[in-house]
Amino acid sequence: MDFKRHIAANIKAGELSEEEIYSMLALPPNTEMGDFALPCFKLAKTMRKAPALIAEDIKSAYPADDPLVSEVSAVNGYVNFKIDRAFWAKETLGRVLTEREKYGASDEGKGKTVCIDYSSVNIAKPFHIGHLSTTVLGSALYKLHKFLGYTPVGINHLGDYGTQFGKLISAYKRWGKKEDIEKGGLRALNALYVRFHEEAEKDDSLNDEARAFFKKIEDKDEESVALFEWFKELTLKDVGKIYDLLNVHFDSWAGESFYNDKMQPVIDELNEKGLLVESEGAKIVDLEKYGMPPCIILRSDGASLYATRDIAAAIYRKNTYDFYKCLYVVAYQQNLHFKQFFKVLELMGKEWAKDLVHVAFGMVSLEDGSMSTRKGRVVYLEDVIQKCIEKALAIITEKNPSLENKEEIAKTVGVGAVIFGALYNNKIKDITFSYDKVLNFEGETSCYVQYTCARANSVLAKGGTAKDFAIGQVLPQEFELVKQLSEFPATLKDALEKYEPCFIARYAVDLAQKYNKFYFDCKILNAEEKERNFRLALTEATLITLKNALSLLGIGVPEKM
Ligand code: ARG
Repeated sequence: MDFKRHIAANIKAGELSEEEIYSMLALPPNTEMGDFALPCFKLAKTMRKAPALIAEDIKSAYPADDPLVSEVSAVNGYVNFKIDRAFWAKETLGRVLTEREKYGASDEGKGKTVCIDYSSVNIAKPFHIGHLSTTVLGSALYKLHKFLGYTPVGINHLGDYGTQFGKLISAYKRWGKKEDIEKGGLRALNALYVRFHEEAEKDDSLNDEARAFFKKIEDKDEESVALFEWFKELTLKDVGKIYDLLNVHFDSWAGESFYNDKMQPVIDELNEKGLLVESEGAKIVDLEKYGMPPCIILRSDGASLYATRDIAAAIYRKNTYDFYKCLYVVAYQQNLHFKQFFKVLELMGKEWAKDLVHVAFGMVSLEDGSMSTRKGRVVYLEDVIQKCIEKALAIITEKNPSLENKEEIAKTVGVGAVIFGALYNNKIKDITFSYDKVLNFEGETSCYVQYTCARANSVLAKGGTAKDFAIGQVLPQEFELVKQLSEFPATLKDALEKYEPCFIARYAVDLAQKYNKFYFDCKILNAEEKERNFRLALTEATLITLKNALSLLGIGVPEKM
């Protein structure tokens, strides 16, 4: 039940509508003051009265017989409302314990398809720590949309087109060995690529050779296309392993090359609409009026560009999925690119261009020095995940040597640490990834949350789950927990609206902290029966909610730790 809604509906404040009151209701800094507060300062002007007097009036007008509200007070220009705690607890626990793994879900997105373009790896290029954020952010947004009733379409817009593939073929034919590449996968391919650049610096003719090979791919030369397809297959096999580990899923792998035959109609349309102009041999859309450099559609040699493909892709997605929104989870370095091609679509008269959203995020660097792809100093994502799993295993072994299934648990903990580490901060912030920080069992981490779940599991294993519980007096620690539990659905809504999975991560840490405070302050198993049952119900509701939160981020929860 939405208590805020209930209170808003009962408040009478001049001409204000229920909606306006609802949006004004705030949370007081501490629960001793109240559970909701209505600030009256903004009303003083229109009502021509001092805020303190307005607060008094609103208080007196509030129905005295509302069973949900145990106290209304007017203090310093605020009207404070206290919800009946037992009522709140009963409502909330009732809901969590019946809805269970569906708690927090809704159907607000019913009938709405949302395309989410994320991870979008480049074929034959290293899948490095820089790809972590787009992958886990996109995946969390995918799961969140699904949970709230939307139909998400996960798209991996593969970087599978460009001159670099000519370079790769040239390098492979010169120095590559089939068995080595088969064994070494992505890393072996990248080594070839790095070697090509070194050698091409000494011998420029290599670049001509690469261009010729690229042309061969475009002309559908059998051998070149077969090599390219093989590189693609090797890449997808390697990244597939990482996607499996991270619980990441895609519905479409239509990459850049998919749009090879879908760009001509776009170019024709741009021409018809008089948007395409010639500039130094290239064809561009002039965006000067909008304070941006031109969007280049065709290079002077007639080749299409990244933006051309993105325009074709957006049109294709609209036609295929009739999306409600199309999200691009891509680093902020590409801000201009997205602004440009969104604008071009708008100028083409696509009214749906307003539904394209660039979900930008900051950079991830490693604590022990930044990385540079060009010099070959690459931190592979796979290595980061493996290292986290190993470290998790060492910690778990030290904490609980007799634990069964340690390897499996370490995997869940290690992978969780990587995902949570990337999702804990507002997405636009640059972050420094630290192994010690993400694996700190007492920190704001997934392992802290997972550990709390293991604690709750062990309480329930000893005490059983409460079938029936009556609620008497609710202690502050219990009430804090109840309130936090009841905020889960609103937190998810908010996270989706702002495209911020970090709200869910923070929520999980908050809930775990509140449970642990409750756990240490209130005895559960040795309490009297009535309290014991209520506290077991609180424990179970916490476990359910924490699991739901983590699973939306792609993180599992071991039974024991
Ligand atoms: N492959 C690109 C890169 O690594 C990201 C593609 C993002 N998606 C898009 N539709 N442009 O930079």
